[in-house]
Parts: sequence; C-alpha cells; structure tokens
Amino acid sequence: MTVNGYQSGFPVEIIQEGKVKVLVPRLRDFVRQPCDYAPSKAPVFYNPVMELNRDIAVLVVQAYQRLADRNITVSEPLTGCGLRGIRFAAEVVGVERTVIGDINENAFKLANRNVQMNGLVKSITVERQEANLALAIRSAPRMRFDVVDLDPFGSPVPFIDSAIRALKNDGLLALTATDMASLCGIHPKACLRKYGGRSLRTEYCHELAVRLLSGCLVVAAAKYGMGVKIVFSHRGEHYIRVYAMIKYGARNADASLEEMGFVLHCFDCFHREPIKGNFRLGYSANCVECGSKLSTAGPLWTGKISDRDFCEMMEQEVERRKLKFARKIDKMLALVKTESNSEVGYYVIDEMCDALGLPVPSVEMVVDSLGKQGFDSGLTHFNSRGIRSRAPARVFSGILKGLTSSKHGS
Ligand SMILES: C[S@@+](CC[C@H](N)C(=O)[O-])C[C@H]1O[C@@H](n2cnc3c(N)ncnc32)[C@H](O)[C@@H]1O
Ligand SMILES: [Zn+2]
Repeated sequence: MTVNGYQSGFPVEIIQEGKVKVLVPRLRDFVRQPCDYAPSKAPVFYNPVMELNRDIAVLVVQAYQRLADRNITVSEPLTGCGLRGIRFAAEVVGVERTVIGDINENAFKLANRNVQMNGLVKSITVERQEANLALAIRSAPRMRFDVVDLDPFGSPVPFIDSAIRALKNDGLLALTATDMASLCGIHPKACLRKYGGRSLRTEYCHELAVRLLSGCLVVAAAKYGMGVKIVFSHRGEHYIRVYAMIKYGARNADASLEEMGFVLHCFDCFHREPIKGNFRLGYSANCVECGSKLSTAGPLWTGKISDRDFCEMMEQEVERRKLKFARKIDKMLALVKTESNSEVGYYVIDEMCDALGLPVPSVEMVVDSLGKQGFDSGLTHFNSRGIRSRAPARVFSGILKGLTSSKHGS
C-alpha cells in the first residue's frame, strides 16, 4: 500500500497526535476476530489508547527540561512507529537530539518515514537495533542521555540496567509496565521473579505495583552507586508508569535503599502497615488489630511516589499547550499532588463493603464521617472509589458499618 509516497507493504493511514502527523498501521485491517487486540496484530505496534500516556510523557519531559535548564538528549529504544520520540522532538522545547529505535524492521522503516514526514531528520536518529545494545553503546561518559523512555510490551525489567547505565547524572528514566497480573498479585511468583518483590491482590494493588516497580529500579540503580527520586507516577487503564530521576553517588544509593521495605496487609480486617528498612531480611508478623497472620508485599519502595513541585511544573505545561486530554490530565495532576505526601495504601469502599456484606455508601458520606471522627482524608487517582486516610482499618470499617446501618434504619 502507498500513502504519501510511502510503500509500506501493509495497510497504513495518517493520524494526528499532539503536534505531529504520522503514518500508523490501519488497525481495523488487522482485526480478524472480535477478541483480537489490534495493536499487537499489526506488523508495527501502534496503540491509539496510549495517547494520554504519551501526552503525560511530553509534559514530564518538558517539566524535566525546564528543571535542568539546558538542552537535553532523549532515547526511546522501543519506539514502534516512532510516535513518542517524534513527539518529544517536535513538542518539547530544548530537546536537541533524540535517538529512537526498534528491533522490528517494519517499525524501523515506518519510524524513519515518520521522522522525514515531520521534517525532523536533523534532530532524530532512527536505528534498527536491539534496545539493550542501543543503550549499552551509549553508556560511556559523554555519550549518555538526559532522558530514557522505556515503553515495552509487558515488563521494562529486561531493559532497566542498560537504561540506568545510559543515563547522565540527574537523568530521567520513564518506565511503562503493562504486566499487571504479575504486579497486582494475580501471579505473585512472576512478580517475585521479575521485580524481586511479592505482589498482593489488595484493593490498593495498583499503588503497590508502582512501589514494586520503583523498588526494582532502586535496587538496580544501587548496584551502580546511584540513588533514585520518583518525580511522578500514575496508573492508566492497563498499565502503570513511573518517572524517576537518577542521582549518581553511593550516598544517594544508600539513602534510596533506606526507603525500601514492605507493606503488611491483613486480609481479615483490612489493616495495612508499611515497614521501612531491613528489606533484605524479609518480614513476618501478626495483625496488631485482629491477631491474624499478616500477608507481605515487597520488598518494595515505601518512599514518595510523586513530587508536588514537579506536578506543579507539569500543570504549568498543560496550560502552555493544547492537549486533547488536558482536562483529564489536570484532574489527575490535582489528585497526584495531594497524594504526594500521603500514607501508603488507600481504602476502596466498594471492595471493603463487598467483603463486609454491606451496601455501598457514597465517597462523600465516608469522607464526611471520617472528618467528624477527626481524621483527614483525601482521594486517589488510582481508584475513583478509593479514599486515603490515616484512620485505622477498624475505624474505617466501623464508619462503613455505621453509615450503612443508619441508611437501612432511615
Ligand atoms: C509497546 S511497543 C512501543 C510503543 C511505542 N513506544 C509508542 O509509544 O507508541 C514495544 C516495541 O518494542 C519493540 N521491541 C521489543 N523488543 C525489543 C528489543 N529487545 N529491542 C528493540 N525493540 C524491541 C517492538 O517491536 C515494539 O515495537
Ligand atoms: Zn487484622
């Protein structure tokens, strides 16, 4: 098929995303059965649903560039049709060089064509290369990048070491993980194998997923004498994303390791408790509330999973540009900002009421009752039915019971 003078050998079409126009596989031509997932059936990977993810990535890289206050270089070694890297080059002020690559020949050719179509041949290098190799050959001083964005199929773990080594001091690493069954406790053994920590199927498993991926990054970076600061993280429909700055220095590595620990969870009464430190030794205990044996998630990162100032810089970037998902992103940023200093974990009222056999009250009613009992609370972007509060699980369950019994009584 020929579009815009480009002979692809498979059906393609032109789409616009952000400020760029690119050729992508025409997904409808690759769906044979209703259950087919078109992006991975096409000869080159393209997922329109990830536009929000790419919008946020553009905002993060721009906020990072403003923080660095100099021109930056970016690597996207798992690029598919090139859209993400092309958007960085076209939309982020101060990106002077971008290297994008993919192992798939069709992807390489399409990405090349898309770079030409957007007039970015001088600022973007496209290569057909295995991602670890592409990063390894840039891991020497003066060859490293300011930003590496890893957006793989499934887990980013196979590329994390190479990415860390290809980053400058204070560089930014962006990680997508889509293997949510591992990270959210459906396959805890797979999580332990891949991420070095145990996942748990709790109602706040998406936050635990972010903490497991962050913990895996912290342990990997520590080997090279580097510490980690998580500047932003979020949950999408079927993935999580973590943005971390890498800080050279053994002291930074030690300080990051001190934020490693576990989250203990009681499946009988919803009690949860983060434990910092001693993460290599493991942990086992009984619930202080009900005496049941606690389940353990981790080792994982118990430190901050976003930075308030960084979120504010991202908010300024949203205002400066026209993004399709601007309102959605603003809403998310407002929540992530409030979550940046909160305790580990949140309560999901639907899941708790389900387990307790109660009808479900509104989020507002629960927040109001918590306030009346002297507990601050907040919402979470991880789950629209989630509430963050320092109230113990016993108090929280009591509120749910009280609210629903008064509802029945009236
Ligand atoms: C999820 S897709 C990338 C999507 C893209 N980042 C975007 O935002 O549209 C993952 C890509 O990684 C490529 N890939 C998989 N393993 C690779 C490897 N070891 N080295 C380089 N590319 C690889 C695949 O061909 C695929 O195009
Ligand atoms: Zn308990």
